[in-house]
Amino acid sequence: MGFDTIITNGTVVTATDTYVADVAIAGGTIVATGKSLPRDNTRQIIDAAGKYVMPGGIDVHTHLDMPFGGTTSSDDFETGTKAAAFGGTTTLIDFAIQYKGQALRQAFDTWMRKAENKAVCDYAFHCIITDLPDSRIPEIKSLVGEGVTSFKLFMAYPGVFMLDDATIFKTFQAAAKQGAMVCMHAENGGAIDVIVKQALAEGKTAPKYHALTRPTTAEAEATARAIALAEMAQAPVYIVHLSCNDALQKVREARDRGLPVHAETCPQYLYLSLENFDVPGFEGAKYVFTPPLREKWHQQKLWQGLKNDLEVVSTDHCPFCFKEQKELGLDDFTKIPNGGPGIEHRLSLVYSGGVGGGHFNVNRFVELVSTTPAKLFGLYPRKGTIAAGADADLVIFDSHRKHRISATTHHMRVDYSMFEGIEVTGMPELVMSRGEVIVQHDKFLGRPGRGQFLRRVPYNGA
Ligand code: URP
Ligand code: ZN
Ligand code: ZN
Repeated sequence: MGFDTIITNGTVVTATDTYVADVAIAGGTIVATGKSLPRDNTRQIIDAAGKYVMPGGIDVHTHLDMPFGGTTSSDDFETGTKAAAFGGTTTLIDFAIQYKGQALRQAFDTWMRKAENKAVCDYAFHCIITDLPDSRIPEIKSLVGEGVTSFKLFMAYPGVFMLDDATIFKTFQAAAKQGAMVCMHAENGGAIDVIVKQALAEGKTAPKYHALTRPTTAEAEATARAIALAEMAQAPVYIVHLSCNDALQKVREARDRGLPVHAETCPQYLYLSLENFDVPGFEGAKYVFTPPLREKWHQQKLWQGLKNDLEVVSTDHCPFCFKEQKELGLDDFTKIPNGGPGIEHRLSLVYSGGVGGGHFNVNRFVELVSTTPAKLFGLYPRKGTIAAGADADLVIFDSHRKHRISATTHHMRVDYSMFEGIEVTGMPELVMSRGEVIVQHDKFLGRPGRGQFLRRVPYNGA
């Protein structure tokens, strides 16, 4: 009996180690790493000489097939996970939305139906809670039992998703009891709403006003409030899509006090800025997402933050086509569906700017895009590392290959790229999910429906 596959000669990279070794795979899992593994009867030998072999990327913030702003995000679980695979992401955690009056379970069932038979790679769900009367609090425990061990709450979007502080506090308490993580969209929605109405009354309707009506102070205030509410409830908190230095400072202060406060940022905040709105006509709508783009100087602060206090890079992939979808807001920026596409290029952008840019080493890169996401969200050590017993979700990464990002070549189902024209150095060459090669040399070899739902375990304070 031999192995199914040996990946040979590669440089294995985990969050802690870098070493040249072979990786042996059988039955979809990694069974051994080492030099001179026996090759008799091994069905497939893949040569990774000169390349990194790293754990598959884990994107813990995506919105596939999500109704929002009068339309639905343009990638579904088939097109979105396929694009993710091209970029080296082999697991994603999407958001199941509980609408007002619904049971949390209904959100989970609805999103399970959206994903099954479509997903190309493995997936899990956070549950967005929009309505939590006391009678529903026990449902948090039930959902955790189903493997949905994290919940997203909003301090923004009044009338749609926003929760009051009392409900947020109660959710923190209930989640902490179950070992669940609360993910927070931290922006002061009430204040922003006032600024938005004033801007519209002054005739400011262009896309850039989406950004100009959502100050960094609104994000910093909500971040500090989320942290305070979590501290009072003795709960961990995970701040999603952190976009600016002001909010980062709040996270840093809390972490310096030893609080279980975690935060992610996204490639758009590392690469794009308010300057992207200096484009003709309605083009700026391509950059309308929330929190918005910031002044350029924040980018360096976020790159520096990724050395320590920012622990994850996710994408907040929420694509809407420019034609017909973004155009819903032609005359009024508040009607532009919020969100941008990014699921495909996270690894390349973070490697290129982070390791290539001298901000951190390749181990920290793996930690940011795979290992810490797995640890914080109850997937480790099945996912997020290269070790015997882990799923064989692996990426052979060519750290020298250059690629110019463009909508003409990407695989996401959306008619523009936020990163159009940006050249990255570092691209996946082969992507494997549970031992199956799903992408090799830019060719898709996977199959819709092969992706499995992942029941996650509660947060363990990683
Ligand atoms: O603009 C964004 N980020 N759209 C997706 C929803 C969210 O707030 O994450
Ligand atoms: Zn959000
Ligand atoms: Zn989001």
